[in-house]
Amino acid sequence: MPMTTSEGDLKTTSFVLQPFSEKDMDETDIVLRAAYRTQYGRKDTLKRYLEIQPSHAIVAREGEEIVGFGATRDYGPFAYIGLMAAHPKVQGRGAGRMILEEILGWLSSRQSRTILLDASPSGVHLYETHGFVRVEPTLVLQRSKSAHIVPDPSFSGRNYEMGTQEVEGNFAKLVSFDEPFFGANRDSLLRSYYDDEPQRFLVSKDMKGRINGFLVAQARTLGPWVVKDSKAAEDLLAWALEFPFEDRPSVIVSGSNKGCLDLLGRYGFEVQRSMQHMYWGVKPIHRARSTAIYAQATAGFG
Ligand SMILES: CC(C)(COP(=O)(O)OP(=O)(O)OC[C@H]1O[C@@H](n2cnc3c(N)ncnc32)[C@H](O)[C@@H]1OP(=O)(O)O)[C@@H](O)C(=O)NCCC(=O)NCCS
Repeated sequence: MPMTTSEGDLKTTSFVLQPFSEKDMDETDIVLRAAYRTQYGRKDTLKRYLEIQPSHAIVAREGEEIVGFGATRDYGPFAYIGLMAAHPKVQGRGAGRMILEEILGWLSSRQSRTILLDASPSGVHLYETHGFVRVEPTLVLQRSKSAHIVPDPSFSGRNYEMGTQEVEGNFAKLVSFDEPFFGANRDSLLRSYYDDEPQRFLVSKDMKGRINGFLVAQARTLGPWVVKDSKAAEDLLAWALEFPFEDRPSVIVSGSNKGCLDLLGRYGFEVQRSMQHMYWGVKPIHRARSTAIYAQATAGFG
């Protein structure tokens, strides 16, 4: 496909799109590290795009080499696009646009009416040119280096711990608790986090034994984290911070969730970077981004 660069040169793009598969894992992870400029990889998330269906994950190749990636997960009421990446050496040459248009075509064939994403500053323009509308910031916070002392809340998380057996037997209840807040059933996604490390899938209950929150303490990130009230949120946070992490833990949360931002501030979390929450199509109203959703699973899974 010929295209004109900003300098006016005529360039020929030579990217070929293919479905992402297990054998692409290592090479794609290298592209993600380069595009996002991180030391750590994202194989755990890549693996989930293969396991959790319906999803559509694709790589862009130039010659034999993988140079781009993008994916979407269709939850039904809405889809989420994530992990869009072009290797720095090909950025600005049309790979990102090709990947996005492939994903939008796939979602269109599934009659998706609402598509959500959290765009980094370099992605906003690309999405706006495809009809996405800005909603509000999505913030990435990370626990500060000096935040050694955890405030002493009336910590009750451990009292309400559901044993592994109990979570397993009650998973449907957990999914039902989550669904009205998240805005869609995400049984398979939650199960995949649970199956990976059941002991880090924290669930709290109220005095009557009803689930009032859960938090997945991933190796680097806290989330998904959904709560009915601020007490459950703090119990779960204090509990989660007892676990070891690969780095100071981070949280991805809507900039409009004041309750979460206040809580994280008290526990020594600081804003590290800001993304732009965007939607395409019908604006979703049945989602609790500013109240109950205290943390996304990842930027791409919502
Ligand atoms: C965002 C990203 C995936 C776009 O891929 P790409 O292959 O560079 O994008 P394209 O060449 O298809 O360009 C698409 C549009 O985005 C613009 N664009 C590309 N990189 C940009 C940047 N860093 N800042 C602002 N705009 C940018 C291009 O100018 C183009 O707009 P135009 O058609 O009006 O000229 C890629 O830059 C990237 O991997 N960024 C780092 C990782 C990241 O932040 N990913 C999340 C994105 S939400």
